[in-house]
Amino acid sequence: MKFINKIDPEIATLIELEEKRQKETLMMIPSENIASYAVEEAMGSILGNKYGEGYPQRRYYQGNQLIDQLETLVIERAKKLFKVEAVNVQPLSGSPANFAVYTALLNPGNTIMGLSLSSGGHLTHGAPFTASSKYFHSVQYNTDKNGWIDYDELLALAKKSKPKIIIASTTAYARILDWKKFSEIAEEVSAFLMTDISHLAGLIAAGVYPSPAPYAHIITTTTHKTLRGPRGAMIMTTQKGLNKDPDLVKKINKAIIPGIQGGPHFNNIAGIGIALKEASTSNFKRYAAQILKNAQIIASELIKYDFNLITGGTDSHLILIDLRNKCLLGNTAAEGLEVAGIIINRNGIPYDPNPPFYPSGIRIGTPGVTSRGMKKKEMKIIVKLINQTINALIETKIKLKINSEKDKIIRQEIIRKTSSLKQINQTVKQLCRKFPLVKQY
Ligand SMILES: Cc1ncc(COP(=O)(O)O)c(C=O)c1O
Repeated sequence: MKFINKIDPEIATLIELEEKRQKETLMMIPSENIASYAVEEAMGSILGNKYGEGYPQRRYYQGNQLIDQLETLVIERAKKLFKVEAVNVQPLSGSPANFAVYTALLNPGNTIMGLSLSSGGHLTHGAPFTASSKYFHSVQYNTDKNGWIDYDELLALAKKSKPKIIIASTTAYARILDWKKFSEIAEEVSAFLMTDISHLAGLIAAGVYPSPAPYAHIITTTTHKTLRGPRGAMIMTTQKGLNKDPDLVKKINKAIIPGIQGGPHFNNIAGIGIALKEASTSNFKRYAAQILKNAQIIASELIKYDFNLITGGTDSHLILIDLRNKCLLGNTAAEGLEVAGIIINRNGIPYDPNPPFYPSGIRIGTPGVTSRGMKKKEMKIIVKLINQTINALIETKIKLKINSEKDKIIRQEIIRKTSSLKQINQTVKQLCRKFPLVKQY
């Protein structure tokens, strides 16, 4: 911070305060994680100065000999780790990566089929109001009432709507996605199977969650969630994808540039390379296995405190809780937990009777706390603190009228003034002090 402090104290202060916040709170949003110092160093490196539109050996600008070596190295690491035939490491983030795949394979108005938001899908999988449903015809499949994907219904819907791409993915679906069943359904309707493993990439790389590589045609992923890299994304093509369309790689590459992007962010691409190297170690395998163990401990402890989990548990890094039996909305719980120092997010649940901005659930994840070295003992403490927080919120008898800005202010004021939440916050801080952000994995 030496230089930022000197040049721009305002920004320096904000960064320092944010670092303090991250140190003193429990990062339990499933899509967040703590990248290593090595990854941070790459992100802040001089590689960000270089323009290199195009691909290795095919750049529009001069001076890219070393950049070509870098990008090729990162691609080879990704191919090896995820057992795929080709990788584009240039997508700036997960959303443009997904959009690039659609534009590579579809004409405007063609049909895509993805899991709905309320069932645990992502915005970019065809949710209303997004580019994915504005420029393409989106058909959404849902889970059943208990939160499980119903593959028979999925097949029936696919036969009826004949999508060109079926998207298998999760943002809030905690269970194993049956890649084989997805691929059988895609084959039956001659669709491409695109699996978006953004949330699962680290778990898949470590072998603690099944890989879609033998089944999918295309795999997209962000690099900053369980994979613990910098912000960025990759689009991977499998052997199966090449068998279906030998021009797939060419189409995807063209969709990225000149399709929807310009110059790649080589500082982030270097960070992705480092994260891939870190993810291929036995240390990372242990880390990913612990993410899973921690999530399963949290799930079983929550059940003991009478929390209602969608599907009753988890096979991954996340847990989705239905708060209706606690008579709290996701907003109240998320805001109360924030005051207590436990950072999670409100989330919709399958067939949510409440609107998306005032959903009935919360989503909790373990990648961040596991990166700090926390294990079973700490998970049990965290669930106890979550339960205490929820009980304290119930006791405040917060009545929330949906869609009212005035009520939101009143609600937040009540939460802020609840003294038991401040006491819980002290316990959280003590726990955080015992598990500092070391970032040397
Ligand atoms: C499954 C999935 N795909 C794509 C994205 C979008 O990634 P980004 O936020 O990098 O655009 C997310 C983000 O949470 C995600 O969960």
